[in-house]
Amino acid sequence: MLTFEEKKEIEALLPNYPTRQAAGIDALVILQRHRGWISDETLGQAAEFLRMTPAELDSVATFYNLIFRKPVGRHVILVCDSVSCWVMGGDTILDYLKSHLGIGFGETTPDGRFTLLPHVCLGACDKAPVMMIDDDLHVELDPETSPDRIDQLLSLYP
Ligand code: FES
Repeated sequence: MLTFEEKKEIEALLPNYPTRQAAGIDALVILQRHRGWISDETLGQAAEFLRMTPAELDSVATFYNLIFRKPVGRHVILVCDSVSCWVMGGDTILDYLKSHLGIGFGETTPDGRFTLLPHVCLGACDKAPVMMIDDDLHVELDPETSPDRIDQLLSLYP
């Protein structure tokens, strides 16, 4: 069952949409912020609240890749996986993250701290290479100095 707070937040955004169903993504973003990820149970609760079927809402959730349908770590690292970042040395950043954290794409560190995911263009191509940790965009990750900088950035997310 959605909590009072969750319902209140979703209700507050409904006037911005022509129908309740059109608020699906934003409603899931709210629930994900509260719950960490969107389980089948949460999806069903949200669908009921928005007067949709779970399948309808799931199709929206699947289309939007920032809705996590499996458990993730406390912090999600999105590494840009597109051409400008590749050209500017993004692979070096990714290789360092993988070896330093001991995980690959789609995996979570054993302590549940970080999940590593690819993302098609994070929209800051002029500042490549970039990655995002939770809601924070980190730009101009110079491959030459990346280990120190990445260590420093990761330490901000306990
Ligand atoms: Fe990496 Fe656009 S290609 S931000």
